[in-house]
Amino acid sequence: MFSEISEKMEKRMKFLEEIDKKDRTNGTERLKRLRQIPPETGKFLALSASNCPDGNFIEIGTSAGYSTMWISLAAKEKNLKVKTFELLEEKIKLAKETFYEAGISDIVELIEGDALSNLENINNVSFCFIDCEKEIYEKCWDLVSGKIIKNGLIIADNAINHYDTIKPMIDKAISDERFDSLIVPIGRGELVCRRK
Ligand SMILES: C[S@@+](CC[C@H](N)C(=O)[O-])C[C@H]1O[C@@H](n2cnc3c(N)ncnc32)[C@H](O)[C@@H]1O
Repeated sequence: MFSEISEKMEKRMKFLEEIDKKDRTNGTERLKRLRQIPPETGKFLALSASNCPDGNFIEIGTSAGYSTMWISLAAKEKNLKVKTFELLEEKIKLAKETFYEAGISDIVELIEGDALSNLENINNVSFCFIDCEKEIYEKCWDLVSGKIIKNGLIIADNAINHYDTIKPMIDKAISDERFDSLIVPIGRGELVCRRK
């Protein structure tokens, strides 16, 4: 997968990595920052998703589409699509630009609006990446966990750097007997939950 990243996707990845790096040091206000995952987490998501069964790949929290590009590598290999949810107008615009520039508009469906009110209609989920406001992680778990198919995965970002805020969701996931779950110390900490 990684050696097959197209030149145009690599260019867009580098472009967004630069913006994200600047955002973190130049005082850009929180909602305007891209707040995206680091590249090693992207690789981890692509590797994990590539081993999931066929089904819907979803992402809650698109921002400018950086993590979506990584997930799309696995989707492309498996001939599947990614549905990604984003709320903010400015981010939606950037994400559309990303999917066009990276040449993945045909693989990615951007669902505009609050993920919490749009998840209802989605079933048969084999991979879900949660990376939205930390305060709604538990609600996301409640809405998505029952939709995950056998051997499917939920991966939630910020399980180490925002441990205290998302603890209710982490505790719920770890004690949920339908799943095997573990926090992996990569990037900002990924909670990985596999449906038995
Ligand atoms: C941490 S950023 C996502 C970064 C992205 N996953 C990446 O690594 O490139 C979180 C994003 O989730 C979006 N978001 C927050 N709450 C949401 C909701 N209820 N529905 C849809 N998007 C939401 C925010 O607007 C923000 O762009």
